[in-house]
Amino acid sequence: MSSMHLLLKLQLLLLILSPPLLEAARLSCMLNGSCSLDEVQKEEKDGVTWAVLVAGSNGYYNYRHQADICHAYQILKRGGLKDENIVVFMYDDIANHTSNPKPGVIINNPKGHDVYAGVPKDYTGDSVTAANLYAVLLGDKHSVKGGSGKVVDSKPNDRIFVYYSDHGGPGTLGMPNMPNVYAKDFIKVLEKKHAAGTYKEMVIYVESCESGSIFEGLLNENMNIYVTTASNADENSWGTYCPDMDPPPPPEYDTCLGDLYSVSWMEDSDQQTTNGETLAQQYDKVKVRTYNNNSSQGSHVMEYGTKDIRLESISLYQGFGASNVVVDDTLISVSPMGVVNQREADLVFFQRKYEKMREGSQEKADMLKQINDIKNHRSHLDSSIDAIGAQLFGSGNGFLILNSLRAQGKPIVDDWECLKSMVRVYETHCGALTEYGMKHMRAFANICNQKVTEAAMMAATVDVCGKHDVGQWSPLRMGYSA
Ligand SMILES: *[C@@H]1O[C@H](CO)[C@@H](O)[C@H](O)[C@H]1NC(C)=O
Ligand SMILES: *[C@@H]1O[C@H](CO)[C@@H](O)[C@H](O)[C@H]1NC(C)=O
Ligand SMILES: *[C@@H]1O[C@H](CO)[C@@H](O)[C@H](O)[C@H]1NC(C)=O
Ligand SMILES: *[C@@H]1O[C@H](CO)[C@@H](O)[C@H](O)[C@H]1NC(C)=O
Repeated sequence: MSSMHLLLKLQLLLLILSPPLLEAARLSCMLNGSCSLDEVQKEEKDGVTWAVLVAGSNGYYNYRHQADICHAYQILKRGGLKDENIVVFMYDDIANHTSNPKPGVIINNPKGHDVYAGVPKDYTGDSVTAANLYAVLLGDKHSVKGGSGKVVDSKPNDRIFVYYSDHGGPGTLGMPNMPNVYAKDFIKVLEKKHAAGTYKEMVIYVESCESGSIFEGLLNENMNIYVTTASNADENSWGTYCPDMDPPPPPEYDTCLGDLYSVSWMEDSDQQTTNGETLAQQYDKVKVRTYNNNSSQGSHVMEYGTKDIRLESISLYQGFGASNVVVDDTLISVSPMGVVNQREADLVFFQRKYEKMREGSQEKADMLKQINDIKNHRSHLDSSIDAIGAQLFGSGNGFLILNSLRAQGKPIVDDWECLKSMVRVYETHCGALTEYGMKHMRAFANICNQKVTEAAMMAATVDVCGKHDVGQWSPLRMGYSA
């Protein structure tokens, strides 16, 4: 018998003797002798760190969200996480976009280098969906549709890091394919994961407008999940490194390169000094960078969930210390950074494109039409919501009720199915909410909180939007966001 054969037999015997160690992924490396048993046992005892990275948008004008996600991948990878443990959701329409001045390259900082190389294409294009995100988090291979099929197949001692960047609104996070993520559904997934006992600790970072509303009054503190969000439940989050801003992107870029909270935690992570830093220390730094007292721009970075985890070293999540950290040549701004409201960043991009186009050209005329269509749809969204509020609650009260904030510690709505049905009624008659219109989610939540029936909402909506031609904003074309 050859020694190779003997080794194989021995390893098979070991496999049989230690069934809890068995995992399909490990089997092949054990069989060909490329991984040591020690390593497998160590992973079993100490756990491994998983990461789920989600860019919730598409379109070149949303460049920054995918850039954020790619940058996060590079940090985790450099810190020692394995590709098999990192699941990436990104639409992947940026690197090769005709507007990208450096084809095949994505940057997340004016002086930054490429963050796109090597990023796993797990869920791209049509497979970037809320349903796939839930299945991936739950480790449910059978429910994912499309994509690489990679899921968080975690064990009780494992740690999970989740980072999301995109547009949002009260109670929701955007997705490039409808429907959006609803806070209650996302929290249910976390509760299910907790009940399954398949992680030890989870850390979640979320950048979006009103990101605090995803967790406020919803996340149980006893699930070993620690969350920070870019903003509280009723604030915008901010794009940064945008054209005409300080610091600006290189002149050939017409789009924002990053988001303020996101670049703050990642540029902190890029610093060698982060080695051994706790999550709490990172939080404190990010908080200062993300809210500038003097300009009243920026947002309040929030914390939710199990606070004990704050004292953990961030190396547990990002793998720092496991390898030599290469300090990025990024510029860390000490002065306040220029920012733009996430919801205006697309118009900034289109406006710049327009200005650069040749006077009198067809493309300039088309761009102007596109900008005006967007502006018209926005004012239609704003005015129709106001009018529906006036129909339902009277012209004096409507505005106050739709915009009222619930007490801190309460979720934006109690009946989440009601919220979804109100959104669908609205979109049917008035057109897609779009990324901009997600800011009106609070109005729909308050309509539910006032116990308005679906029939009454329908009547008011038909009254306000019945004669409006939704045209290109039809939910039949764009999908319902709820
Ligand atoms: C052994 O198998 C693993 C998993 O399939 C593979 O990644 C690795 O390259 C293989 N190693 C050798 C030495 O063949
Ligand atoms: C981008 O273009 C390169 C070179 O043509 C190609 O290999 C790659 O698959 C493209 N990527 C995407 C996401 O389209
Ligand atoms: C901002 O103002 C608040 C309240 O005035 C103060 O507590 C906080 O320390 C200030 N932060 C900075 C960074 O100056
Ligand atoms: C805020 O303004 C004060 C006074 O102009 C200045 O001394 C301080 O450095 C500014 N702080 C920040 C964070 O910009």
